[in-house]
Formats: sequence, C-alpha cells, structure tokens
Amino acid sequence: MMSGDIQGRVQELSDELHDHIYRYHVLNDPIITDDEYDRLFRELQDLEAEHPEYALPDSPTQRVGSDLSGDFPKVRHPAPILSLSNAFDEDDLVNWEERNRRLLAEDAKLQYVLQPKLDGLAIVISYEGGVLTRAATRGNGEFGDDVSANVRTIRSAPLRIPVNSDKGAPPSRLVVRGEILFHKEDFLALNREQEAQGLPAYVNARNTASGSLKQKDSRETSKRKLTAYIYAIVDSEGVELDSEWETLQYLRDMGFKVISDAAYCQDLDDVRRRLDAWEARRDDLPYEIDGLVLKVDSLPQARELGVVGKDPRGAIAYKFPAEEATTKLVGITIGVGRTGKVTPTAQLEPVFIGGVTVSNASLHNYEQVAALDIRQGDRVIVKRSGDVIPYVIGPVAGARDGSESAINPPECCPFCETKLAQPAGAVDWFCPNPKCPERVMRTLEFFVSRGAMDIEGMGPQTIAALIENGLIDDEADIFYLTAEPLLALEGFAKKKVENLLASIEAAKSRPFEQTLTSLGIDGIGSTVAGLITENFSSVQDLMDSAGAIEATEKAFSETLQGLLDDERGSGAEVEKLAFRLRHPLTELAPRYLDAADLPLRLARLLKPLAISEAELAAIAVSLSRLIAASKPLHSIDGLGPVLVENIVEWFTDEHKKRVLAKMLEAGVNMRAEEKAVAGSGLAGKTFVLTGAMSAPRGEIKALVEAHGGKVTGSVSKKTSYVVAGDSPGSKVDKAVKNKVPVISEADFRALISG
Ligand code: IVH
Repeated sequence: MMSGDIQGRVQELSDELHDHIYRYHVLNDPIITDDEYDRLFRELQDLEAEHPEYALPDSPTQRVGSDLSGDFPKVRHPAPILSLSNAFDEDDLVNWEERNRRLLAEDAKLQYVLQPKLDGLAIVISYEGGVLTRAATRGNGEFGDDVSANVRTIRSAPLRIPVNSDKGAPPSRLVVRGEILFHKEDFLALNREQEAQGLPAYVNARNTASGSLKQKDSRETSKRKLTAYIYAIVDSEGVELDSEWETLQYLRDMGFKVISDAAYCQDLDDVRRRLDAWEARRDDLPYEIDGLVLKVDSLPQARELGVVGKDPRGAIAYKFPAEEATTKLVGITIGVGRTGKVTPTAQLEPVFIGGVTVSNASLHNYEQVAALDIRQGDRVIVKRSGDVIPYVIGPVAGARDGSESAINPPECCPFCETKLAQPAGAVDWFCPNPKCPERVMRTLEFFVSRGAMDIEGMGPQTIAALIENGLIDDEADIFYLTAEPLLALEGFAKKKVENLLASIEAAKSRPFEQTLTSLGIDGIGSTVAGLITENFSSVQDLMDSAGAIEATEKAFSETLQGLLDDERGSGAEVEKLAFRLRHPLTELAPRYLDAADLPLRLARLLKPLAISEAELAAIAVSLSRLIAASKPLHSIDGLGPVLVENIVEWFTDEHKKRVLAKMLEAGVNMRAEEKAVAGSGLAGKTFVLTGAMSAPRGEIKALVEAHGGKVTGSVSKKTSYVVAGDSPGSKVDKAVKNKVPVISEADFRALISG
C-alpha cells in the first residue's frame, strides 16, 4: 500500500469503528457482528503499529473497551477485570506457551485447565460473609454498572453461599466473576413467546442477554430465563487455593453453577489433542460458545507470569472461526419439495463464514420471514454452524435505507402455476398439484436415492432426460423401462443401459421397510418405516387400514351434521371443541384409544355444545368405529397422530394408489419377510449404536432384533448398552452421564454368542 493509501485506510477504519461503537453502545442497534467488528479493529491496530505516525489522537484503539451505560450507578471493582488475548490456531498456543516458559523456572511443569468460552456477558458478584452484596457488569474493567437488583432475579446466582450449609462456613469475602447468558433452549422459548404475542423475534442471544440485564425495572429482568455461570475468583478473604482446578471445585462447593465441561490437561499436547473434539461438540452444548479458554492450572505460576496490558499471561482464549456474518440479501429463490412444500431460500452477496463462502441460506418459511420482518435488499445476519444448512437469523434493521421491499409468498407455484394453499394451522404453503413437474422430479430423486430404492445410475440428469422423453411420469414407470427406447436416448450406450436396468431389477426386491421409506410420505423416514413394518406386514394391509380410517372418518363427520352450527354456542371454548370434532383422527381418536367409558367421557367433552342424548349416542358409536379402525396405527409407539394422518392421506390418495398398484404389478416387493429368529439372548435389552462398525448399521440392527433385542436412536436411562464403533459420537458422553455401559463391537458380538 502507498503511504497515502495507508493514511486514508486508517482514517476510514477509525470512522467506521466510531460509527459501529456508537451503534452498539448508544443505539443498541449494531449492524455488524462482534467478529466483523474485531476484524476491523485488528486491521486498524496492525496499521497503527506499523505506522504510528498515522495514528489519530481519537483512534478507537485508544479507548478501553466499556459497556457502561448512563442508567446505573457506577461501582469500582476490587481488582481490575482483565480480558484475554486471543489465539486463532495451534501455532498461537505453542508460541504462547514458549513465551511463558521463558518467564518461568527452566524445569517448570505447565498443566492446564481447558474450558468453553461462554458467549454471554461478564458479571462480577461480591459476597460479604456469604451474602450477595453487589453485582456489577465488567464496564471498562475498572468501573462497572451496578446491576445488583437485576442479578438477584437470576436463580442460578446464589443470594447466599455456601448454598448447602454442610459445606462449612462462608468465606468472609468472595468476589467472583462469571458470565450471564441464555441457554439455547431458553432463548428459543423466549422467541416462541414473542411470536405468540405477535412481537418480533430476538436475533442474537448475547445482545438479548445484555439487554435483559440492563433493564431499569428488575421485574423485566426476572421475566427472562437467564443463567449465571461462575468461572473465576477476582478477590477473596479467607480462601486458600493453589490451582484453577481446585478453584472450580471450590466454586462448585459454594453452590455456584460452574461449567461442567472443564478438562484438566497434563500438558499442551494433551490440550491440542482435544481441540477438534471440542469444536465438533460445539453445537451439542446447551449454551453458545465462541471458543475455549485455556488457563495455566497452577495459581502461583499464573501470578509469576503476571499481566501484560489488560491480559493475564497465564490464560488465553482459543477462538473458533466465527459462525455468523452479515451480508446483503439480494433475492429469493423458491423451491418446491416432493410433498409440495414451498421453501424460500435467500440469495446472498457471497460472504465468508467459518472457512466457507456462503451465497444461499435458508429462510425456513414465509411465516418466519414475516415474523422476523426480513425484506428484500436487507442486510441480514447469516449463521453457519456445524453441518446445518446456513440460515438467515434476521435482518439488521438499522442498516435499511428505504429501498427494501417486503417478501411475500407467491400466489401460484412457480413451476406449474397452480394456486398455492396453506392448510389450516400450518406455517408452510404447498403446491397441491401432484403432477407438478418440480414435485414429480423431487419425488423421483428421492425415490431412487440411497437409503430409499437405491437405484444406481439414476441421477437427477437421467431422471430429467427420462421425463423429457416421455419414458416416465411417476415412480412406478421406472420398473417398466426397457432397453430399446433407452438406447435411443443421447448418451445412453449399451453398457450404461444394461447397468441401469440391472439396478432397477435389483431395486424390486428391497426389504419392505426400505420400499416404504422410498415412497416419501411426509415424516416417514427409515426409522418410522421400521416401526410401521413391525406392525404391518404388507402395503396391502396399510392400504386397507387407511381405507377403513378414511371411511369411518367420513361417517363420523356425517354424524356431526348440524352439530357445529352457530346456534349451538360460541366463544373460544366452543371453537376449540369444533376444531377437535373436525379433526377426529388427530384430536380425538388418540385420546380415547383405550377409553372403556367413551360415552361418558364424550358427554363431558361435548357439554358446552348442549346436545341431546340421542346425538351423543350416535357420536359415540361413530367415534368408536374410527378408533377401532385407527388403533393399529395409533398404538404404534413412536408414531404420532400427525404421522398417522400423513399415512392415511397418502394411502387414500387416488394418484398414489394408482402408482402403488403399478409397482405391485411390476413385482416390486411390498411385504415384510418372515423375521428370522436366531435366538432370544438379547430379549428385553435396548441398544444404541454409534460410530463406524464392521458392518452397515442396518445389519447390526437386524442382528440385535434377530436375537430379541431393540435398537433405539438416542441414549436414555432405559438404554441397556451403547455399542461404540470407530470415532463414536456424543452418544458415548451421554451414556457416561446416564451411567449406561459402553461396549465395543467385539463385546457386543460376545454378548450374542452368550
Ligand atoms: S477467564 C482473567 N473463562 O471471555 C481472565 N473468561 O475474551 C478471566 N469468558 O472477558 C477470564 N467464558 O467475559 C474466562 N470460561 C471462561 C470464559 C471467559 C467466557 C469471557 C470473559 C472474558 C472474555 C475474554
């Protein structure tokens, strides 16, 4: 860069940063993420370090970070509230240790405590004689805002320590430091509540926690489910501790909520080995973290290392790549899935998040778009975490210039022009046309995919070519393909056609469970399909059941004729009742599945409608028929009412019925095999599988079942064993937590052979 450019850039960065600081601290309306701010700040710091001659006297780098506001009395902290220097990769950690070694005795042994870096806001809480006397924000590190009244509303912040008096006498004085935050689920619940009240959703958990803590009226704070984690002692009298590890135990004994996931590490190699696993676990933790904190365990060593600037040398933050960034929403693409569900996707100005360039992000559905008030042309915050599809968290309303426009669902399907429909109570819009080319394409793609019919050589392009040339219209047509017309297509050589026909032939004899999965019934994946095929031995049985349910449901609604007229009553209670009566399959049948006294219970339920004895008797008879018809499906464990409804709808749809008939005709397997029973050695035992094993999951599962055992997806106290293969997932941690034995595949095989 030329020197003039550098001077210009320094000026530009300073101006920008001043603006961002003002927006963040004064307006409470930031337009970039913390991380983007940090990046600008670091760029300015670096330029000023290289060219001190250009540094401006009012540079933002000359200001100590502060979260002070005008609303609270200021209090002086008993000791400086330090911050941490950052490491961005392993090299930074190695260099950090090396620098520390030079300051310590030659043979010093360095052990570490590694813990999550919570993404909340720092809090300093003082106890005198065991009683909470004051709580203050970090402020500028020397003075903070006195937010005592608000912190007292947070249940996890003890008002008196030790909480359990068995733990001895209170320390005469203890000042602790920690972090206030929203657990992820509490933040989601808060937003659900906002939505229910028609209020805009909160975008960022950390800013919302900060706003909640800085309410002038502590009754407002008390309505928010905040949590306080404590991780350090700032100042104390009457407390003797030698290490970080002991400190955590001491804090726990006092009754503070302490991060349960801290790890004791023998040396830096031990720390390094754990970093990847930590990053992978990030999404499983109940709170947001933005990295890890690594602390020298020995307190005497940490004291010897001292402080440089505002950062103690004995601790360092290891930052994960940012998961959020802001960018411009330039357009919307509309997708239609195989069920007809319409999904809007945001087209973005490309932005780099956590090592990947993102140019599309999910907007979930139009209801969400409206709830968050996301507009075309908005600057938006995008999140990309773990292996979830990137999604738009929300707009940066403060960055609007008036050119933005509302985003509404289209009236018609962009692929077939059919008018879109929104079922009652649903958030999604649907294309109701089963012949919609996009729906057909998605249905076929899913049908042939792995885990479904698994037809090799039938990628999206082949499907498109087959549809275009009129060779297939639906899933069943695939099984009627012959060599001749295929060979006439461009790019279909003899070998390719032979292979394709062979894999189609093979697909005819997939296990029933797999065929059922392939049908793509909304909500029926391989797990649920497995539950169904345990109880229904053929597709014919399912069709018969669905038909009987449809007929009894129709008869039920006929019995209701006139009952739901206006003169029977009005008001919320009657409306709720009417809704139930109109949806008997999901709202009534599951509730009264085993009711011996159905007429009595119905009489109680229908009281607000003022109906006659005769009407009641007719309704009871009609409902009991529906119950009898739907019981085989409703009583399957793990199959909720909505899934039952989806199944009934699918198997009674005329188009689907025709497709099924064609498939049966072609010889596609649609019935369960007689289960081979190899033994009952695992009877009553429940297994959870995790990690890679010597055989596919399905095979191991079949093996368990053949021996009378069960396989479930998640670990609970009821799990008998977790079988861990290579690189097992977090299920092992969950097993340890629930005291469920974890065994290897070899142990498992030994168990079978007795
Ligand atoms: S220890 C003397 N441990 O991160 C340093 N800090 O970037 C004491 N933070 O200001 C800090 N989780 O607000 C520590 N487990 C943790 C933390 C943590 C989050 C915050 C803290 C600090 C900032 C530094």
